[in-house]
Amino acid sequence: MKKVLIIGSGFVGSSLAASLKSAGVQVYCTRRQRGEEGTGTSQFVLEEEETWRNLPEEVDGVVWTLPARPLSQVQRFYDVYLQSILDLGKPVIVYGTIGRYHVEEEHQWVDEKTRYKQTESGREEGENFLQEKGATVLVLAAIWGESKNGETRGLKAWIKKGYIQAVDKFLNLSHVDDIVKATEVVMERPELKGQAINVCDGNPMLWRDIILGLGYELPPMTMTMTAISSRPSKRVSNDMLQSIMGKDYKFQQVMDPVDLAVDKQR
Ligand SMILES: NC(=O)c1ccc[n+]([C@@H]2O[C@H](COP(=O)([O-])OP(=O)(O)OC[C@H]3O[C@@H](n4cnc5c(N)ncnc54)[C@H](OP(=O)(O)O)[C@@H]3O)[C@@H](O)[C@H]2O)c1
Repeated sequence: MKKVLIIGSGFVGSSLAASLKSAGVQVYCTRRQRGEEGTGTSQFVLEEEETWRNLPEEVDGVVWTLPARPLSQVQRFYDVYLQSILDLGKPVIVYGTIGRYHVEEEHQWVDEKTRYKQTESGREEGENFLQEKGATVLVLAAIWGESKNGETRGLKAWIKKGYIQAVDKFLNLSHVDDIVKATEVVMERPELKGQAINVCDGNPMLWRDIILGLGYELPPMTMTMTAISSRPSKRVSNDMLQSIMGKDYKFQQVMDPVDLAVDKQR
């Protein structure tokens, strides 16, 4: 892999860029705002076709980090740019979200074979379209960690800001470093073309356990009455990714599962 285009260099994209560069890969990044010349970052806006000509003509792989919507623009971008890359057998990786999995039972486990549904975000049909064309969709859960763009996302900050969902719902997590590593590994595995792969730690935790485990008090009961709590919570399996990464690969955990088990016994 010599030249990689990362479309969107936000929280994950900028960390991926740094990792690939340190491995000697020539990296092209995009942002929506016009940047300084010579920085290796080009302006690209999916909805503004005139910006597409800023993209490099020849690359050995593409990582698409922005939401794959609207479908019409995704299809047009496939026709104009991605098709020739996929036709040459080069990898195109698309980031999706676990929101795509439709569950009916509370706390249901889901894997890559679980039924999909369209959500309000409208990105799933774009992801499906690209997957059918040979892209690999990496299905991400809540992203945390320290990005190379200087931003940190973490559970303590979410709790302090009140981002907690109902305390009896599961939270599935994807650490930015694991997403970067999985992307790099999947890019080198042509047999994974056209697949969807969950990228998360495989250790969903109840918000209740996270809050108590991090030493905070549970919020008032009203938190459990929000609209979001009426949706069944899901637990996302990472068995497929674990087998791809190897059984010895350790995913970043927000807290040691042993600590959590001890905490539950108290
Ligand atoms: N946050 C989560 O917990 C979570 C969970 C599951 C999945 N995801 C998904 O995972 C992916 C990576 O997440 P992230 O946190 O790295 O996202 P992020 O920080 O928001 O970065 C997204 C990048 O895509 C670019 N972008 C967005 N809309 C665009 C458009 N219409 N045209 C061109 N570029 C566009 C942004 O450009 P600018 O740099 O100019 O803003 C940014 O560089 C995203 O698709 C996200 O929706 C996120």
